[in-house]
Amino acid sequence: MSDRLYIFDTTLRDGEQVPGCQLNTVEKIEVAKNLEALGVDVIEAGFPISSPGDFNSVVEISKAVTWPTICALTRSVQKDIDVAAEALKYAKNKRIHTGIGTSDSHILYKFKSNREEIIERAVAATKYAKKLVEDVEFYCEDAGRTDNEYLARVVEAVIKAGATVVNIPDTTGYCLPQEYGAKIKYLMEHVDGIQNARLSTHCHNDLGMATANTISGVLNGARQVEVTMNGIGERAGNTSLEEVAMILRCHKGLGIDTNINTQHIHHMSSMVSSLMNMPIQPNKAIVGRNAFAHSSGIHQDGVLKNKETYEIIDPKDVGIDCNAIILTARSGRAALKHRLQTLGVDVSDQEKLDKIYQDFLNLADKKKEINDDDVLMLAGKDRNVGHHITLEYLQVTSGVGVKPVAAIRLDITGEKFEAAASGNGPVDAAINAIKKIISRKMTLQEILIQNMTKGSSDMGKVHMQVEYEGVSYQGFSANTDIVAASAEAYIDAINKFVH
Ligand code: KIV
Ligand code: ZN
Repeated sequence: MSDRLYIFDTTLRDGEQVPGCQLNTVEKIEVAKNLEALGVDVIEAGFPISSPGDFNSVVEISKAVTWPTICALTRSVQKDIDVAAEALKYAKNKRIHTGIGTSDSHILYKFKSNREEIIERAVAATKYAKKLVEDVEFYCEDAGRTDNEYLARVVEAVIKAGATVVNIPDTTGYCLPQEYGAKIKYLMEHVDGIQNARLSTHCHNDLGMATANTISGVLNGARQVEVTMNGIGERAGNTSLEEVAMILRCHKGLGIDTNINTQHIHHMSSMVSSLMNMPIQPNKAIVGRNAFAHSSGIHQDGVLKNKETYEIIDPKDVGIDCNAIILTARSGRAALKHRLQTLGVDVSDQEKLDKIYQDFLNLADKKKEINDDDVLMLAGKDRNVGHHITLEYLQVTSGVGVKPVAAIRLDITGEKFEAAASGNGPVDAAINAIKKIISRKMTLQEILIQNMTKGSSDMGKVHMQVEYEGVSYQGFSANTDIVAASAEAYIDAINKFVH
């Protein structure tokens, strides 16, 4: 029987702290939903007291995500904890992650305090958070440089105060793997009540040892790991989720399992890289574009004779299907079904499969080759079912030296309505035309337009956040025509509040 390792993803908190990587709420929701599909157990969604944007993201992610635990970061300060609990109010499973620095340099210089007082503050924060939520994680910041005897006292005190998880961050990425492993072992052996909580690793990569340290922590008893997609994070980053997941998969003999659906890794990695404008180094383990490319003649020869000669990971296991049958307008239902299964989409519902196949044929008429992103998008496209407002017709004129104008026809529960409007650009014109028909006081708060790969014939995805009567509603669509996708996304959001 394998031991279960819990995956705590902090791409949206520690990862997002990187300058230039900031995401808006719509983008964060998109990342969170994909993390859910990837199978992470805990999503650290933000640090609510730090800004209204972070607060709002935690609220919206809590609403959008179903089963993973949503976690919010705080300092050991009552106001922080109150605000975090408020931001988490819609989460089905919620956790407050509170903590304080425990190394001598944090205690003396950051807090101008002493060891006893720090333990008192740690206990008070844990007890306070415990009154607001059941699941409380405590972090001992700079635990990597905290002496083990004192660290054990802090860990014991917060577990006694109700902490369910205790995080042992190597905040500065200083520890050697055997040193970090020994720290976890020491805590496992010397903390009274350790069986009442789970120890968590949180390793930074300043010396390139984050993954090694994390694995060493796990081998010595930690049963939660804090990681980010592509290892993004402050300075040299955090431990990579994909590396830990694949190490445990490759080394089954360790007897430690995660809930990660590894076939989603490649998709998730490209999505985070493109949304955060953070290119992946080509030789990055697991997700770099050269990770599975054998260029030397000797290697190519070996791989052709037997893949295992030079490959320890089957690229399919991380969602790269090198030999995949290319899907085109001539592909049959069976090929599409096979690809959906490979991507981890449930295809047992025949009616749903028929609908996806019909959408697939329509898309394949417009686009030469259908890639995995397209297929995943089609699988989620039945979100339009049940809409009582649909876009029937859209014509837009725009260009250089012309004022953009849009003409639209909407079907509202069987009745047809037409309108035309101008705007600053084609999307603005289309939205103004929609507003002429649906005359509510609604505000477009955020819009995110992405194209799925690179070609000009590719699909564009549009996410929108529309505010109506103080509540934010999310809309989504994908189309080879980006203006049509924008109008559809706007209508998708409207359908959620106009009944
Ligand atoms: O690196 C660190 O110590 C942290 C804590 C705030 C958990 O990110
Ligand atoms: Zn950190």
